[in-house]
Amino acid sequence: MSAGAEFQVQPGGALTGRLRVPGDKSISHRAVMLGAIADGDTEIDGFLEGADAMGTLAAMKALGVAIDVPFPGRVVVHGAGIDGLRAPAAPIDLGNSGTSMRLLAGLLAGQPFDTTLVGDASLSRRPMRRVTEPLARMGARIDTSEAGTPPLTVHGGRPLQGVDYESPVASAQVKSALLLAGLYARGRTCVREPAESRDHTERMLAAFGCPVARDGLTACVQGGGRLQARGAIDVPADISSAAFFLVGASIAPGSELVLEHVGWNPTRTGVVEILRLMGADIEVLAEREAGGEPVADLRVRAADLRGIEIPENLVPRAIDEFPALFVAAACARGRTVLTGAAELRVKESDRIAVMADGLRTLGVRAGPTEDGIVIDGGPMRGGRVDSHGDHRVAMSFAISALRAEAPVTVADCRNVDTSFPGFAAAAGAVGLRIGETRDNG
Ligand code: S3P
Repeated sequence: MSAGAEFQVQPGGALTGRLRVPGDKSISHRAVMLGAIADGDTEIDGFLEGADAMGTLAAMKALGVAIDVPFPGRVVVHGAGIDGLRAPAAPIDLGNSGTSMRLLAGLLAGQPFDTTLVGDASLSRRPMRRVTEPLARMGARIDTSEAGTPPLTVHGGRPLQGVDYESPVASAQVKSALLLAGLYARGRTCVREPAESRDHTERMLAAFGCPVARDGLTACVQGGGRLQARGAIDVPADISSAAFFLVGASIAPGSELVLEHVGWNPTRTGVVEILRLMGADIEVLAEREAGGEPVADLRVRAADLRGIEIPENLVPRAIDEFPALFVAAACARGRTVLTGAAELRVKESDRIAVMADGLRTLGVRAGPTEDGIVIDGGPMRGGRVDSHGDHRVAMSFAISALRAEAPVTVADCRNVDTSFPGFAAAAGAVGLRIGETRDNG
C-alpha cells in the first residue's frame, strides 16, 4: 500500500462468520532468525507475509542464509549454524519493524563482521538505547544517532560476556535482544523485567534445544551452545490482528464471529481479559498446542460494554492491542481509564496522542495523559482520521465505523500491510463495509 492509501468505511453492520487472521508477527520473526542460526532445516507454516516479517526474512538472506518460499505461507530456512552468518553486502533496511531491528541488534552483536541497520521514518524515530546500552555492558559496540535512534551500526569481532541485566521496561524486544546476544557470550546472560512480557523467544529457544532457565521474571541463557532445527514450526494466527475483530464483534450489535487458530499464549491474552472486564462475551474454544505455543478458537458475540479502570498489571500483556481497546472504550457506557502505559508513546506512532486525536475527530471525549488516556464512551460521528502511518491505529479506526453514525475515512493506511496484508478484504468478508483506495504515488 502506498502513502496515499485510504480506507473508506460505511457506518453500521455486524461481524459474522469465521475468520483466520494472518500469522503471528512476533513468532514469524523469531522462527526465521532462530531457523537461520540453527543446524538443519526449519519449515515454517503460517508465516506472516507482512512487510515486517518479510523484512526479517530478507535480512537473514542478506546475512547469507538460504531461505525458500515454495508457496505463500510456507517458508523453508536452511539453517547456517550458530557461526554461519556472513557479512551483508550493504546496509539492511528493516522498514517499519522495531522488532526486526532490536532483535537483530542482539543477534548481530556477537558476529565477526559489522552490520548497519536502517529503517523508515517511523522506525528512525524509535528509541534504541534500551537495547544498545545493555548490549554494550556485554561488550558490544553499536552506534546510534545522537538521539539514540537508528541507523544502528553493529560492530563485529567483539567478544561478549554474559551479564545480569535488570531491565527498566517490560519489553520482549529488549529481553530477546539480550538472550540472542547471550547465545554468543561467555557464561550466562540473565534478564530480569519489571513485569512479564511475551515469552516467544524463550519458548522457541527451548524448542531448538537451547533451554532458557526461567525463575519468576528472570530468564537466563547459557552461551556457547548450538541450536538444532526441529523440522516444522506452525505459526498461529496473531492475537494482535484478531484483536480488531474481537473489538469489532463486541461493539457491533448482532455480531457473532469465530476467530480460528489464534495464538493463546498467556503472555498475550491481556486483550481478552480487558474486554471481559468490560463485559465482552468471548468464549475460548478448543484450546490446544501447536509447535510449543498454545492456540484456541475464540467466539465473540456483541455485548454491552462498560468503562473500566484497566488494571496496570495487564498492560504489558495487551501492549499492542490498546488502539483497538480505545475504540471499545469509546463504545462503552461510562469512563475507561488507562494508566501505566507510557510505552504506547514510543510505538510505530505515539499511540496515545494519535488515538486521542482521531477519537476526538469522531466526537468522542478522549483525554491523553502522560502514561495513558481517559475515554468517555458515547455516540461516534463519522469523519476523516489520520493513522499517521501506524498499522494498528488504521485498523482500529476502520473497525470504529461499525458504531459510527456516518462514514469513517482513514488516511495513511499503507503500513497495514506490515502486520495484516489483506485486512480490508478479510474484514469485508465478515461484514465490515470497507472500501480501500490504493494510490500508486
Ligand atoms: C514485540 C514486542 C513488543 C510489541 C511488538 C512486538 C516482539 O514490543 O509491541 O509489536 O515481538 O518482541 P516491546 O517488547 O518493546 O514492548
